[in-house]
Amino acid sequence: MKRLLTSIALLPSGLRAAAGEKHLKRRLLRLTKHSALLLVVLGVGGMLLAASGIIPIKASSRHWALTDWFLSFAMQRSVATHSLGIKTPSLHSLDDPSLVLKGAGHYESGCSPCHGSPQLRLPRVPAAMTPPPPYLPPKISHWEPEELFFIVKHGVKFTGMPAWPTRHRDDEVWAMVAFLRALPALDAAAYRKLVNGNLAPSLDVPQYGLPRREDVPEAVTESCGRCHGADGRGRGEGAFPRLAGQRPTYLYAALQAYARGARHSGMMEPVAARLSREEMRALAHYYGNLKEAAHAGSVPDDAAAIERGKAIARRGIPSKGIPSCIDCHGPSATPKNPHYPLLAGQYARYLVLQLELFEKQQRGGSAYAHLMRTTAHRLTQEQMYDVALYYAALPPTAGN
Ligand code: HEC
Ligand code: HEC
Ligand code: HEC
Repeated sequence: MKRLLTSIALLPSGLRAAAGEKHLKRRLLRLTKHSALLLVVLGVGGMLLAASGIIPIKASSRHWALTDWFLSFAMQRSVATHSLGIKTPSLHSLDDPSLVLKGAGHYESGCSPCHGSPQLRLPRVPAAMTPPPPYLPPKISHWEPEELFFIVKHGVKFTGMPAWPTRHRDDEVWAMVAFLRALPALDAAAYRKLVNGNLAPSLDVPQYGLPRREDVPEAVTESCGRCHGADGRGRGEGAFPRLAGQRPTYLYAALQAYARGARHSGMMEPVAARLSREEMRALAHYYGNLKEAAHAGSVPDDAAAIERGKAIARRGIPSKGIPSCIDCHGPSATPKNPHYPLLAGQYARYLVLQLELFEKQQRGGSAYAHLMRTTAHRLTQEQMYDVALYYAALPPTAGN
């Protein structure tokens, strides 16, 4: 050994460096070989362990405290990192009562069966999941709005927390975030009021032309009425479209489009997909025939905008290739194609939203939906608002 060291010391320094480098390379090679071997052994061992069937996958045994901590830590870090680029609407706009109402309607059918609500607390069956869906009110303050958006839009892998039913639009997910932010302050009564509104409206009042209670389809009292009202007026805030007096052919085609996934809405697609053709027909008929229902909601008192909107609706803007809306949507003395929706008396807010969705190519619909795409694309934001206000201000019975 001593002799070897002396001979190395006697070598010229270049040669010495080459020998050291070779040695290092050899060690690295050995290390790599050992690690690869270890990985193969671990892999084979893991497969054998899994094949033996002794790894428990029982939800009943819950996670170990350490697994629980690790999964929750990894989830929080992932949400924090992935939500970095998300642009949040102003907090002020997230406080909008119309957005909160829209989120509430869906929470009751899409989320409370797992997460419970101030009226129900935690339901028993999902509480036996691993991990169990948490009761949300005390959790909300731990998250920023963009983090809630990310969780609701994408769901959480390996936990049972589903993604939003459609990826084609984000506005509905923000409505859910708006509701979640309001949730911690709600007691059972406030929650019930927000979610259900007045589910049993004056159905017997004859001047609205409403049918007798026993003629109301079951789906209306069980589901649709919560958001659209049993009277079809859409609950006054513009969160949900008015259906009363709409053409039944259009309503039926819209339900079919949602059910097929040809019109995108995380709120309406699951509802429509559960209906049979006969139920769709009955519901379209029911809502379409609520003719006399009163005006849907209050319209901003902006006479100048309504006047500008009227000009667009009647004459279009020929220089920009925008056709007149009344040619298809009325009001006019001659009946139009029953696939074209009536817009008179509809909420301005809902009309603007649909025009924006058409413009962003996020609104599908029936086989006629393409007629709207180029039109919406050519309208400015202000023109959308003006023409929506014109239609919202018309009485719902304005004509064909
Ligand atoms: C099938 C059951 C299920 C449904 C339906 C469901 N969730 Fe969840 N959700 C879960 C589970 C399980 C978790 C726990 C995930 C975890 O532990 O990381 C969760 C977690 C969450 C969280 C994070 C809570 C926290 O602080 O850890 C939020 C927020 C949430 N869900 C919102 C919603 C909303 C809003 C809806 C409805 C659109 C919904 N969830 C529908 C099962 C569900
Ligand atoms: C959770 C709330 C909710 C429930 C419950 C609900 N809807 Fe809707 N509905 C909405 C929303 C929100 C929209 C607008 C969606 C969009 O932007 O496309 C809508 C749109 C519609 C439309 C299209 C209207 C138009 O002018 O294009 C029809 C038709 C409709 N719903 C019928 C029904 C029927 C029938 C039921 C019951 C079986 C029902 N909805 C249940 C929230 C709901
Ligand atoms: C050539 C016929 C045609 C013209 C012209 C037209 N539309 Fe439409 N519009 C349609 C059809 C068809 C639909 C329904 C698409 C579907 O859902 O199947 C529609 C849907 C809409 C909707 C959504 C309604 C709802 O209940 O969801 C709005 C809002 C709308 N149009 C506004 C306008 C405005 C504003 C103009 C004028 C600038 C206009 N349209 C011109 C055919 C037309």
